[in-house]
Amino acid sequence: MIDLKSFVRDIPDYPKPGILFRDITPLLASPEALSAATDALAEPFLGQDIDVIAAAEARGFIFATPLAMKLNAGFVPIRKPGKLPFEFHTHQYDLEYGSDELQVHTDSVQPGQRVVIVDDLLATGGTMEACCRLLEKCGAEIVGCSFLIHLTDLVGEARLAPYRVESVMKY
Ligand code: PRP
Ligand code: ADE
Repeated sequence: MIDLKSFVRDIPDYPKPGILFRDITPLLASPEALSAATDALAEPFLGQDIDVIAAAEARGFIFATPLAMKLNAGFVPIRKPGKLPFEFHTHQYDLEYGSDELQVHTDSVQPGQRVVIVDDLLATGGTMEACCRLLEKCGAEIVGCSFLIHLTDLVGEARLAPYRVESVMKY
């Protein structure tokens, strides 16, 4: 079995002093690691009638489309402000190193559709919480959140309770 952690590069003090950045670009550059990471993200949700995979740009998008194809689901993009052409919902949130705002089209998910949200990394949980809130405004049923990396000391999982949280690698 492939050791996915060996493809994650640690960059101290990026983008700010005190932040240890977990850089996944070596993992993305490896066909074997990318494929194994996508399989591992999908695994907890196989056979669970998932209608939609949603993800926030930019790093969430990387895994969302292959995951959608594996789970026979569609893809819904959650975007930073000013990018969506149709009516949208907005949610503001705090980051480990700043704050941001996300938006989703109001018609992106039909009421009752079963949604899994994917992201590369769970830190404070602010991004994923914003995604959950936005999709619930559209009437989605959130089946769970699937992360490649979970930074466990930042208690993001507590912030996401009671949503189901799955992760491939924990630090
Ligand atoms: C990063 C990462 C997650 C989020 C995790 O995204 O890709 O989406 O931070 O942090 P949180 O759990 O504290 O919200 P970022 O906002 O840096 O944007 P990017 O994907 O465009 O790099
Ligand atoms: N996003 C939020 N915190 C992060 C970290 N420590 N490494 C990589 N991406 C992040």
